[in-house]
Amino acid sequence: MTPERPHSTPRTGDPSSRLSIDVRREPGDDHSERDELRAALLGDPPRIPSKYFYDHTGSVLFEEITRLPEYYPTRAERGLLEARAAEIVETTRATTLVELGAGAATKTPILLDAMEAAGRLRCYVPVDVAQSMVRHVAEELTGRYPRLEVFGIVGDFVEHLPELPAEGERRLVAFLGSTIGNFGPEERVEFLSHIAEQMGPEDRFLLGVDLVKPAEVLHAAYNDEAGITAEFNRNILGVMNRVFRADFELDAFEHRAVFEPVERRIEMWLVPRSDQRVTIEELDLVLELPAGRGILTEISSKFDRASVAAMFEGAGLTLDAWYEEDPALVGRFALALGRRRDRISPSGE
Ligand code: AVJ
Repeated sequence: MTPERPHSTPRTGDPSSRLSIDVRREPGDDHSERDELRAALLGDPPRIPSKYFYDHTGSVLFEEITRLPEYYPTRAERGLLEARAAEIVETTRATTLVELGAGAATKTPILLDAMEAAGRLRCYVPVDVAQSMVRHVAEELTGRYPRLEVFGIVGDFVEHLPELPAEGERRLVAFLGSTIGNFGPEERVEFLSHIAEQMGPEDRFLLGVDLVKPAEVLHAAYNDEAGITAEFNRNILGVMNRVFRADFELDAFEHRAVFEPVERRIEMWLVPRSDQRVTIEELDLVLELPAGRGILTEISSKFDRASVAAMFEGAGLTLDAWYEEDPALVGRFALALGRRRDRISPSGE
């Protein structure tokens, strides 16, 4: 199946003619996804892919997390973008912003405003698994920017990356919020390689990364007082119940988030307080989970400049610029700007 490019799909009944939404896939849609999930649940440890967090409820809960006093990454990244957007737009000369995992796109206007101010804003391409979010964001932004074209893409950005639109425009492909941290080490290099492969020589890649820091700070960010992160974590079981007709008992699972210093990542778990037997109709699966046998729902890796440079290197990207907060704040978060490495190396390989 080759999905059509958004500009060739018929306009939907949206009020604005500058807006189109291409629904390529929703979570749980097809066999390969069910197979992936089944394998993950039967793994050691059992896992649920993090993309299943983001149904409508999960997306709303995540937005709540970003406003928690303990959860610093979103504010830190927003501050950085505000301070550096003009410079980023100036150096990249981008006309199109492609945003992978756009979510509620709350930081997007910072970049779009800077592009508009530079007289270069042409299109915005939000890509997200949450259909309601893509629609909402597309409508809001076409309203806000009078000439902006929005091509929304509903789909798994890992899967749908090879078909990103607006080729020929100068694209800034942004992957913000340290979502890259959800990938394992090999997976993230592979993902970035896909991005690099379809970037033109003038396109640029902007990556937001959360930085390694003292465990107490990280621990607090994923174990907030108000319990919103716990609720967000348990909601993934609600998604399983609804999408895959499972019967997880949400209250039987304890939220646990721990920093693993060797892998330099937060791991989020859902640990059953008592023995659980869960039926998942859509997967034809009965899952036995003894008390204490946790399900790994998320890894959130933390980075530094060297690890990002190495990751870029492995993916065929070059690190052009690194933006961090005032070093006096002992950098909490960073933005990395990269480009595709020249395919012809000086040695002629
Ligand atoms: C959206 C994946 C970057 O890892 O910090 C927030 C998700 N999980 N609190 C992160 C999340 C728990 C977030 N990312």
